[in-house]
Amino acid sequence: MNIDPTALFKLGYGLYVITSNDGIKDNGLIVNTVSQVTVNPDRISVAINKSNYSHDVILKSGIMNVNCLTIDTPFSVFERFGFQSGRDTDKFDGLAFSRSENGLAIPEISNNSFISLKTDEYYDLGSHGMFICSITESKTLSDKESLTYAYYHSNIKPKPEQKKKKGFVCRICGYVYEGDELPDDFICPWCKHGASDFEPIE
Ligand SMILES: Cc1cc2nc3c(=O)[nH]c(=O)nc-3n(C[C@H](O)[C@H](O)[C@H](O)COP(=O)(O)O)c2cc1C
Repeated sequence: MNIDPTALFKLGYGLYVITSNDGIKDNGLIVNTVSQVTVNPDRISVAINKSNYSHDVILKSGIMNVNCLTIDTPFSVFERFGFQSGRDTDKFDGLAFSRSENGLAIPEISNNSFISLKTDEYYDLGSHGMFICSITESKTLSDKESLTYAYYHSNIKPKPEQKKKKGFVCRICGYVYEGDELPDDFICPWCKHGASDFEPIE
């Protein structure tokens, strides 16, 4: 099959915090899978991995809030809502929030709107559950630019620290020789150029 997985990276997505409540505490998770799928009436689809606690909570309660994130969202919001589970964490600990009419939380993070949803249909898609929802309330909170997945990857997600190597780099092909001194007769194993084409790594 002629499938290039990088073609999927070109799909445009936004990023959202979906809030829910299990009857004891508020919870939220990060998703990129919110879409408006119909008009008249407006219906929204949200896909959530079945292994996430929010999936089970929303399946039972039938309600959720979509909080649309902006480009000002700090990485700490992703750490809080995206890298730990409400199964064993209180993700709202120390966080200011208000409530929408459905009683669910609207955290005071960089969200420019919220949309309260009620589940109309549910589809089991194997790894994920797809919730098809109607809107019970919605409000714009600010005019700040919405966050895209692409912006998150290039500007918010920390880059892995490049460990600085001590040595010499081949100006021709980029091969790195690690060490304090480069032997005069050294030949680049990649492009076969000699030591004179190497320069020290700054
Ligand atoms: C950038 C980003 C995008 C994510 N997108 C999704 C998504 O679309 N669907 C999903 O189920 N989980 C997604 N996640 C993972 C959940 O946010 C994460 O597993 C979370 O800890 C689940 O919390 P919960 O167990 O309290 O529901 C994403 C995480 C990040 C950081």
